[in-house]
Amino acid sequence: MTDPIQDATVAYDVIDGIAWVRFNRPDKRNCMSPRLNRRMMEVLDELEYRDDVGVLVLSGEGTAWSAGMDLKEYFRENEVKGLGATRGAQREAYGWWRRLRWYHKPTIAMVNGWCFGGGYGPLFGCDLAFAAEEAQFGLSEINWGILPGGGASKVIAELTGFRNAMYHAMMGENISGKKAAEWGLVNEAVPLDGLKARVEEVAKVLQAKNPVALKATKDAIRRVREMTYDNAEDYLIRAQEAANSYDNEGRKEGIKQFIDDKTYKPGLGAYDK
Ligand code: ACO
Repeated sequence: MTDPIQDATVAYDVIDGIAWVRFNRPDKRNCMSPRLNRRMMEVLDELEYRDDVGVLVLSGEGTAWSAGMDLKEYFRENEVKGLGATRGAQREAYGWWRRLRWYHKPTIAMVNGWCFGGGYGPLFGCDLAFAAEEAQFGLSEINWGILPGGGASKVIAELTGFRNAMYHAMMGENISGKKAAEWGLVNEAVPLDGLKARVEEVAKVLQAKNPVALKATKDAIRRVREMTYDNAEDYLIRAQEAANSYDNEGRKEGIKQFIDDKTYKPGLGAYDK
Protein backbone atom coordinates (compact mmCIF):
# COMPACT_ATOMS: atom_id res chain seq x y z
CA MET A 1 0.00 0.00 0.00
CA THR A 2 1.30 3.45 -0.84
CA ASP A 3 0.31 6.43 1.19
CA PRO A 4 2.23 9.50 0.03
CA ILE A 5 1.82 12.57 2.17
CA GLN A 6 2.73 15.88 0.62
CA ASP A 7 4.32 18.17 3.12
CA ALA A 8 6.99 20.76 2.61
CA THR A 9 9.45 19.47 5.17
CA VAL A 10 8.88 15.73 5.65
CA ALA A 11 7.72 13.13 3.12
CA TYR A 12 6.76 9.53 3.57
CA ASP A 13 5.40 6.46 1.80
CA VAL A 14 4.27 3.22 3.35
CA ILE A 15 5.13 0.31 1.06
CA ASP A 16 4.86 -3.36 2.03
CA GLY A 17 5.05 -2.71 5.76
CA ILE A 18 7.96 -0.26 5.60
CA ALA A 19 7.43 3.45 6.33
CA TRP A 20 10.00 5.31 4.24
CA VAL A 21 10.23 8.68 6.00
CA ARG A 22 12.39 11.37 4.43
CA PHE A 23 13.79 14.70 5.52
CA ASN A 24 12.41 16.76 2.66
CA ARG A 25 14.28 20.04 2.36
CA PRO A 26 16.83 18.98 -0.27
CA ASP A 27 17.49 22.59 -1.32
CA LYS A 28 18.59 23.29 2.25
CA ARG A 29 20.40 19.97 2.57
CA ASN A 30 17.61 18.79 4.89
CA CYS A 31 18.75 20.95 7.79
CA MET A 32 16.26 20.88 10.65
CA SER A 33 14.11 23.98 11.00
CA PRO A 34 11.49 24.34 13.77
CA ARG A 35 8.82 23.62 11.18
CA LEU A 36 10.52 20.40 10.11
CA ASN A 37 10.88 19.35 13.73
CA ARG A 38 7.18 19.93 14.40
CA ARG A 39 6.18 18.07 11.25
CA MET A 40 8.49 15.15 12.03
CA MET A 41 6.82 14.67 15.41
CA GLU A 42 3.41 14.62 13.68
CA VAL A 43 4.63 12.07 11.15
CA LEU A 44 6.02 9.84 13.90
CA ASP A 45 2.63 10.10 15.61
CA GLU A 46 0.78 9.23 12.42
CA LEU A 47 2.85 6.13 11.75
CA GLU A 48 3.66 4.66 15.15
CA TYR A 49 0.65 2.41 15.74
CA ARG A 50 -0.50 1.79 12.18
CA ASP A 51 -1.01 -1.92 11.58
CA ASP A 52 0.47 -1.65 8.11
CA VAL A 53 3.78 -0.27 9.44
CA GLY A 54 6.29 -2.83 10.68
CA VAL A 55 9.53 -0.86 10.35
CA LEU A 56 10.35 2.84 9.97
CA VAL A 57 13.27 3.95 7.80
CA LEU A 58 14.55 7.53 8.04
CA SER A 59 16.43 8.92 5.04
CA GLY A 60 16.85 12.21 3.23
CA GLU A 61 15.79 13.61 -0.14
CA GLY A 62 18.62 14.75 -2.39
CA THR A 63 22.30 14.77 -1.48
CA ALA A 64 21.92 15.05 2.29
CA TRP A 65 20.62 12.91 5.11
CA SER A 66 20.54 16.03 7.27
CA ALA A 67 22.95 18.97 7.45
CA GLY A 68 22.10 19.35 11.15
CA MET A 69 20.18 22.22 12.68
CA ASP A 70 19.07 25.10 10.51
CA LEU A 71 21.59 27.78 11.46
CA LYS A 72 19.21 30.53 10.39
CA GLU A 73 15.74 29.37 11.42
CA TYR A 74 16.66 27.22 14.45
CA PHE A 75 19.58 29.20 15.91
CA ARG A 76 19.69 32.81 14.73
CA GLU A 77 16.00 33.59 14.43
CA ASN A 78 15.22 32.10 17.84
CA GLU A 79 18.17 33.67 19.60
CA VAL A 80 16.91 37.17 18.81
CA LYS A 81 13.48 36.28 20.24
CA GLY A 82 15.02 35.33 23.59
CA LEU A 83 15.60 32.33 25.80
CA GLY A 84 11.99 31.14 25.73
CA ALA A 85 12.06 30.75 21.96
CA THR A 86 15.40 28.94 22.05
CA ARG A 87 14.20 26.52 24.72
CA GLY A 88 10.95 25.96 22.81
CA ALA A 89 12.82 25.09 19.62
CA GLN A 90 15.10 22.75 21.57
CA ARG A 91 12.08 20.95 23.08
CA GLU A 92 10.63 20.37 19.61
CA ALA A 93 13.88 18.98 18.20
CA TYR A 94 14.88 16.89 21.20
CA GLY A 95 11.26 15.76 21.55
CA TRP A 96 11.09 13.87 18.28
CA TRP A 97 14.58 12.43 18.69
CA ARG A 98 13.56 11.08 22.10
CA ARG A 99 10.36 9.77 20.58
CA LEU A 100 12.46 7.93 18.00
CA ARG A 101 14.71 6.38 20.66
CA TRP A 102 11.71 4.73 22.30
CA TYR A 103 9.60 4.24 19.17
CA HIS A 104 7.14 1.39 19.17
CA LYS A 105 8.41 0.03 15.86
CA PRO A 106 12.00 -0.82 14.91
CA THR A 107 13.75 2.08 13.21
CA ILE A 108 16.60 2.28 10.70
CA ALA A 109 18.61 5.36 9.72
CA MET A 110 19.46 5.16 6.02
CA VAL A 111 22.18 7.78 5.73
CA ASN A 112 22.34 8.64 2.06
CA GLY A 113 24.57 11.75 2.25
CA TRP A 114 25.63 14.63 4.53
CA CYS A 115 25.07 14.06 8.24
CA PHE A 116 26.10 16.92 10.52
CA GLY A 117 25.83 18.02 14.14
CA GLY A 118 22.21 17.90 15.23
CA GLY A 119 21.72 15.03 12.76
CA TYR A 120 23.51 12.81 15.25
CA GLY A 121 20.39 13.05 17.49
CA PRO A 122 18.04 11.20 15.11
CA LEU A 123 20.96 9.02 13.98
CA PHE A 124 21.26 7.70 17.54
CA GLY A 125 17.48 7.74 17.86
CA CYS A 126 17.25 5.01 15.21
CA ASP A 127 17.91 1.47 16.38
CA LEU A 128 20.06 0.54 13.39
CA ALA A 129 21.97 2.70 10.93
CA PHE A 130 23.23 2.01 7.43
CA ALA A 131 25.22 4.56 5.48
CA ALA A 132 26.36 5.09 1.94
CA GLU A 133 30.12 4.72 1.77
CA GLU A 134 30.07 8.12 0.09
CA ALA A 135 28.15 9.80 2.95
CA GLN A 136 29.97 12.39 5.05
CA PHE A 137 29.61 12.68 8.81
CA GLY A 138 30.80 15.68 10.74
CA LEU A 139 30.60 17.51 14.04
CA SER A 140 31.03 20.88 12.40
CA GLU A 141 29.94 22.84 15.49
CA ILE A 142 33.54 23.69 16.32
CA ASN A 143 33.88 25.17 12.82
CA TRP A 144 31.34 27.85 13.57
CA GLY A 145 32.06 28.33 17.25
CA ILE A 146 29.84 26.19 19.48
CA LEU A 147 30.16 22.87 21.25
CA PRO A 148 28.35 19.80 19.86
CA GLY A 149 25.10 20.15 21.79
CA GLY A 150 21.65 18.63 21.48
CA GLY A 151 23.06 15.23 22.36
CA ALA A 152 25.76 15.21 19.65
CA SER A 153 28.64 15.04 22.16
CA LYS A 154 26.84 12.28 24.01
CA VAL A 155 26.23 10.34 20.80
CA ILE A 156 29.85 10.46 19.62
CA ALA A 157 31.15 9.56 23.09
CA GLU A 158 28.65 6.68 23.38
CA LEU A 159 29.20 5.16 19.97
CA THR A 160 32.91 5.60 19.33
CA GLY A 161 36.08 5.39 21.37
CA PHE A 162 37.34 8.28 23.48
CA ARG A 163 40.16 9.29 21.11
CA ASN A 164 37.94 9.16 18.03
CA ALA A 165 35.25 11.18 19.79
CA MET A 166 37.73 13.84 20.89
CA TYR A 167 39.34 14.11 17.47
CA HIS A 168 36.00 14.23 15.66
CA ALA A 169 34.53 16.89 17.96
CA MET A 170 37.66 19.05 18.29
CA MET A 171 38.94 18.96 14.72
CA GLY A 172 35.70 19.47 12.82
CA GLU A 173 36.88 17.13 10.05
CA ASN A 174 34.39 14.91 8.24
CA ILE A 175 34.56 11.14 8.00
CA SER A 176 33.12 8.93 5.25
CA GLY A 177 30.34 6.41 5.72
CA LYS A 178 33.01 3.73 5.57
CA LYS A 179 34.92 5.25 8.49
CA ALA A 180 31.64 5.80 10.37
CA ALA A 181 31.05 2.04 10.17
CA GLU A 182 34.59 1.32 11.42
CA TRP A 183 33.97 3.68 14.33
CA GLY A 184 30.59 2.16 15.21
CA LEU A 185 28.53 5.23 14.35
CA VAL A 186 26.58 3.06 11.88
CA ASN A 187 26.19 -0.69 11.49
CA GLU A 188 27.44 -0.90 7.92
CA ALA A 189 28.41 1.20 4.95
CA VAL A 190 27.60 0.09 1.42
CA PRO A 191 27.87 1.86 -1.94
CA LEU A 192 25.07 4.41 -2.34
CA ASP A 193 23.46 2.55 -5.23
CA GLY A 194 23.06 -0.55 -3.04
CA LEU A 195 21.97 1.24 0.13
CA LYS A 196 18.21 1.01 -0.26
CA ALA A 197 18.33 -2.67 -1.19
CA ARG A 198 20.43 -3.49 1.87
CA VAL A 199 18.10 -1.54 4.17
CA GLU A 200 15.08 -3.24 2.63
CA GLU A 201 16.69 -6.62 3.25
CA VAL A 202 17.25 -5.78 6.93
CA ALA A 203 13.72 -4.36 7.28
CA LYS A 204 12.24 -7.57 5.87
CA VAL A 205 14.11 -9.65 8.46
CA LEU A 206 12.80 -7.40 11.24
CA GLN A 207 9.25 -7.63 9.88
CA ALA A 208 9.36 -11.40 10.28
CA LYS A 209 10.13 -11.18 14.03
CA ASN A 210 7.69 -11.10 16.90
CA PRO A 211 6.88 -7.35 17.22
CA VAL A 212 6.37 -7.44 21.00
CA ALA A 213 9.74 -9.11 21.47
CA LEU A 214 11.36 -6.57 19.15
CA LYS A 215 10.08 -3.58 21.14
CA ALA A 216 11.11 -5.22 24.42
CA THR A 217 14.55 -6.04 22.97
CA LYS A 218 15.29 -2.58 21.59
CA ASP A 219 14.26 -0.96 24.86
CA ALA A 220 16.34 -3.47 26.81
CA ILE A 221 19.51 -2.76 24.85
CA ARG A 222 19.12 0.99 25.39
CA ARG A 223 18.24 0.66 29.08
CA VAL A 224 20.92 -1.80 30.18
CA ARG A 225 23.73 0.37 28.84
CA GLU A 226 23.38 2.58 31.89
CA MET A 227 22.74 -0.16 34.48
CA THR A 228 24.95 -2.27 36.69
CA TYR A 229 24.93 -5.97 35.84
CA ASP A 230 22.63 -6.80 38.76
CA ASN A 231 20.18 -4.04 37.90
CA ALA A 232 20.14 -5.15 34.28
CA GLU A 233 19.47 -8.74 35.27
CA ASP A 234 16.53 -7.65 37.38
CA TYR A 235 15.17 -5.25 34.74
CA LEU A 236 15.36 -7.94 32.07
CA ILE A 237 13.40 -10.45 34.16
CA ARG A 238 10.66 -7.90 34.68
CA ALA A 239 10.68 -6.72 31.06
CA GLN A 240 10.40 -10.30 29.81
CA GLU A 241 7.53 -11.05 32.19
CA ALA A 242 5.74 -7.90 31.10
CA ALA A 243 6.20 -8.87 27.44
CA ASN A 244 4.96 -12.40 28.17
CA SER A 245 1.74 -11.21 29.70
CA TYR A 246 1.23 -8.81 26.82
CA ASP A 247 1.90 -11.31 24.03
CA ASN A 248 1.31 -14.83 25.24
CA GLU A 249 0.15 -16.20 21.96
CA GLY A 250 3.07 -15.26 19.72
CA ARG A 251 5.64 -16.60 22.17
CA LYS A 252 3.75 -19.86 22.63
CA GLU A 253 3.44 -20.26 18.89
CA GLY A 254 7.22 -19.86 18.57
CA ILE A 255 7.84 -22.67 21.08
CA LYS A 256 5.18 -24.88 19.50
CA GLN A 257 6.59 -24.59 15.99
CA PHE A 258 10.05 -25.57 17.28
CA ILE A 259 9.28 -28.23 19.89
CA ASP A 260 6.08 -29.84 18.57
CA ASP A 261 5.82 -29.09 14.86
CA LYS A 262 9.57 -29.03 14.23
CA THR A 263 9.00 -26.56 11.40
CA TYR A 264 11.81 -24.13 12.26
CA LYS A 265 14.82 -23.60 14.51
CA PRO A 266 14.99 -20.40 16.59
CA GLY A 267 18.78 -20.52 16.25
CA LEU A 268 18.44 -20.15 12.50
CA GLY A 269 15.54 -17.73 11.98
CA ALA A 270 12.12 -16.54 13.16
CA TYR A 271 8.96 -18.61 13.59
CA ASP A 272 6.12 -18.33 11.12
CA LYS A 273 3.77 -15.60 12.36
N1 ACO B 1 21.52 25.62 8.17
C1 ACO B 1 20.99 26.51 7.35
N2 ACO B 1 21.10 26.45 6.00
C2 ACO B 1 21.79 25.42 5.51
C3 ACO B 1 22.39 24.44 6.31
C4 ACO B 1 22.23 24.57 7.71
N3 ACO B 1 22.72 23.65 8.57
N4 ACO B 1 23.01 23.55 5.52
C5 ACO B 1 22.82 23.95 4.25
N5 ACO B 1 22.07 25.09 4.23
C6 ACO B 1 21.62 25.85 3.08
C7 ACO B 1 22.69 26.75 2.50
O1 ACO B 1 22.75 27.96 3.20
C8 ACO B 1 22.19 26.92 1.08
O2 ACO B 1 21.14 27.85 1.08
P1 ACO B 1 20.91 28.85 -0.18
O3 ACO B 1 20.65 27.96 -1.35
O4 ACO B 1 19.74 29.66 0.23
O5 ACO B 1 22.19 29.61 -0.31
C9 ACO B 1 21.60 25.56 0.77
O6 ACO B 1 21.32 24.95 2.03
C10 ACO B 1 22.52 24.64 0.02
O7 ACO B 1 23.74 24.58 0.72
P2 ACO B 1 25.15 24.60 0.01
O8 ACO B 1 26.15 24.94 1.06
O9 ACO B 1 25.13 25.45 -1.21
O10 ACO B 1 25.26 23.06 -0.44
P3 ACO B 1 26.56 22.18 -0.74
O11 ACO B 1 26.04 20.91 -1.32
O12 ACO B 1 27.56 22.94 -1.53
O13 ACO B 1 27.22 21.88 0.69
C11 ACO B 1 27.10 21.24 3.01
C12 ACO B 1 26.59 21.01 1.58
C13 ACO B 1 28.59 20.82 3.12
C14 ACO B 1 26.22 20.34 3.88
C15 ACO B 1 26.97 22.72 3.40
O14 ACO B 1 25.65 23.17 3.10
C16 ACO B 1 27.19 22.98 4.87
O15 ACO B 1 28.33 23.08 5.29
N6 ACO B 1 26.11 23.07 5.68
C17 ACO B 1 26.21 23.32 7.09
C18 ACO B 1 26.55 22.04 7.84
C19 ACO B 1 26.60 22.34 9.34
O16 ACO B 1 27.62 22.79 9.82
N7 ACO B 1 25.50 22.11 10.02
C20 ACO B 1 25.32 22.51 11.38
C21 ACO B 1 25.89 21.48 12.29
S1 ACO B 1 25.91 22.05 13.97
C22 ACO B 1 24.37 21.69 14.55
O17 ACO B 1 23.57 21.05 13.93
C23 ACO B 1 24.09 22.03 15.98
